[in-house]
Amino acid sequence: MATNGDMSTEGIAVDNGHKSTNGHTATSTYKPLASSFSNSNGKKALKIADDLAKSLETPEEKVCRTFWFDIYKFSAMKVGVDVGFFNFPAGSAGTTFSADELGQECGVETRLLSRFLKVLAAEGFVDESGTNRFRSNGVTVVMSDYNFQGLVNEQFEIGLGIAHALPEYLKSNHYKEPTDAHATVFRHVKNTDKTTFGWFADPANAQALSNNTRHMTAKNKMARRWFEVVDTYSVLGEASGAEAPLLVDVGGSNGSDATALLRACPKLKGSIVVQDLEFPIVDSKNKLPSGIVGQVYDFFTPQPIFGAKNYFLHMVLHDWPDAQCRQILGNQKKAMVRGHSKILINEIVVPDQGAGWYEMGVDMIMMTCLSATERTETEWRNLIESSGLVLSEILGCDGEWEKVLVVDLP
Ligand SMILES: C[S@@+](CC[C@H](N)C(=O)[O-])C[C@H]1O[C@@H](n2cnc3c(N)ncnc32)[C@H](O)[C@@H]1O
Repeated sequence: MATNGDMSTEGIAVDNGHKSTNGHTATSTYKPLASSFSNSNGKKALKIADDLAKSLETPEEKVCRTFWFDIYKFSAMKVGVDVGFFNFPAGSAGTTFSADELGQECGVETRLLSRFLKVLAAEGFVDESGTNRFRSNGVTVVMSDYNFQGLVNEQFEIGLGIAHALPEYLKSNHYKEPTDAHATVFRHVKNTDKTTFGWFADPANAQALSNNTRHMTAKNKMARRWFEVVDTYSVLGEASGAEAPLLVDVGGSNGSDATALLRACPKLKGSIVVQDLEFPIVDSKNKLPSGIVGQVYDFFTPQPIFGAKNYFLHMVLHDWPDAQCRQILGNQKKAMVRGHSKILINEIVVPDQGAGWYEMGVDMIMMTCLSATERTETEWRNLIESSGLVLSEILGCDGEWEKVLVVDLP
């Protein structure tokens, strides 16, 4: 494979001439223009550019593009993950290659591969640098990431099937909004009597669980986390003693969030406990750094840690309809100490107007997989108040989609 030093059309390319992981020399590092802005300004700039692009496309083109092209770009990406063609050129952006060279590496007929590469190039997943010649860009690099490939696998193998079944499901349910945690579209499509979390925990679905875990890891890499954009020390405060609980990460999975928090803020005072169901806690055993302990805890039962400074819930409540959220919050509330404890909810707040692909993409996943929802500020306030708590503040997190809702006892 050859290289060139062209400026990437996708962003600002920096010529550093380093070697990619597969040994091919690459000459540029993808640096999207968005990284030149603060996130809130970057999102505004993207919205303006997006509105301009929408106004330049005819309505007929928009409809046909969506139903002719968009559905097959998922196939092209999945084929790319399956045969590993993202892994070959993508140690860094700027590696050029021909369809023939890549076809030989992946064992795919050149012409077939070339057709998929053209689909991906039309969508910006790779650049075209000549006739049947391509050049990896920043998106190609992301697609070579193990965790992002888990995201693609999960959404292709589960998400697309659900999206396809959704209209018929809703029709047969007389278009009632799914709000019953025990009757999900996921359950209908998978033809299972298990809950979604129960289905993933079944050893028969170990591969799907692995994709799901990789998907969650990829998601957490996409944006800055709350503790990278707020004054974390002052938001968390201090525990009542060096060994006392500073933060209980309720539904904290395998502790990757807590680990990143402690890495970013090593001077936090007090202990950190990650609570979850058995599988993630067993999985995290021996992997958590000192200062963090794992504990098996079902959040539909009373919180066993009394008087922690912070009970932290990251993307947990969005998994549940309001009735179950009230049970979860109620169980934390009983463990809180007035004037000391608070709950931090790290979640999307859907804007009343102008919600975008992130908020609504996650909302659709929640609706179909869990009969749950993303919530607007008003909906959060109603949920929190109807749980006997007070929403004291929403930390905006410099335009990141996931905010921090600070919740106190009344
Ligand atoms: C969407 S994940 C969020 C994980 C983590 N907080 C994060 O943001 O990366 C929801 C978590 O809730 C956990 N969970 C589901 N039901 C639970 C229950 N009854 N008790 C405790 N944890 C539960 C899942 O295992 C999963 O780790």
